[in-house]
Amino acid sequence: MKLSMAAVASLVLAFVAGTAGAVTFEVTNNASTTPGGQRFDVEYGADHAKQVLSEASSFIWNVFNQTGARAADRRPVDGGGAVTLVVVDDTDGGIASTSGSAIELSEGYVARFTGDLKAEVTGVLYHEATHVWQWGLQDYAAHWWVFEGVADFVRLKAGYAPAHWVAPGQGRSWDGGYDVTARFLDYCDSVIKPGFVGELNGKMKDSGYSDGYFVEILGRSVQDLWNDYKAKYGG
Ligand SMILES: *[C@@H]1O[C@H](CO)[C@@H](O)[C@H](O)[C@H]1NC(C)=O
Ligand SMILES: *[C@@H]1O[C@H](CO)[C@@H](O)[C@H](O)[C@H]1NC(C)=O
Repeated sequence: MKLSMAAVASLVLAFVAGTAGAVTFEVTNNASTTPGGQRFDVEYGADHAKQVLSEASSFIWNVFNQTGARAADRRPVDGGGAVTLVVVDDTDGGIASTSGSAIELSEGYVARFTGDLKAEVTGVLYHEATHVWQWGLQDYAAHWWVFEGVADFVRLKAGYAPAHWVAPGQGRSWDGGYDVTARFLDYCDSVIKPGFVGELNGKMKDSGYSDGYFVEILGRSVQDLWNDYKAKYGG
């Protein structure tokens, strides 16, 4: 069989795109003898978690506008190229955390949770996977609220916002973090400019967050945008 030059070129392109997306997902239950670890195995499962992390990553790359040729804009995965989830036996009462490409889920939280565990753990994984892929975390201590707001924005867009979150328009300031910031980012991204959160993420790569990014992307100050957002929902 003789390949045309165009066919060879497209094979080469397919290979490059494949390697750019060659991320693996590993899930380990380090707490399998605890109540939460057992509940995780029975009601969620490591294979399901792996699938969810893979789907969440694709979802996040879409939100961040890092698909196709722009896959090169993604934040690289640590070490051997695996995003990992470990169910851990912790005693600090937390839910989950992420450091680099390593996510930990607390068995205690899984044990305590009442309600739809599958939706809850999936929502938590979308939030934590966002921390794996988002740029600018070197600035987390100074502007934690934006990083947590973007992670909850992704969870919201994916359809996993829990019932206890604030409603749109609630909260005292854009920098409240988590659900408060997520609702505001959703207003900026849905009402003002689709793709805003992806652009914001890209700008944070080198030196983290600046209020100036709202002006650069949306042409308005973050305070003006927040005032309009509050007014839209009755103040
Ligand atoms: C999970 O358990 C393995 C084996 O004991 C250990 O090497 C690893 O550090 C543990 N991971 C976490 C996140 O606790
Ligand atoms: C994604 O990035 C490309 C290249 O920078 C840009 O042209 C496009 O408008 C972006 N899409 C969105 C939705 O922001």
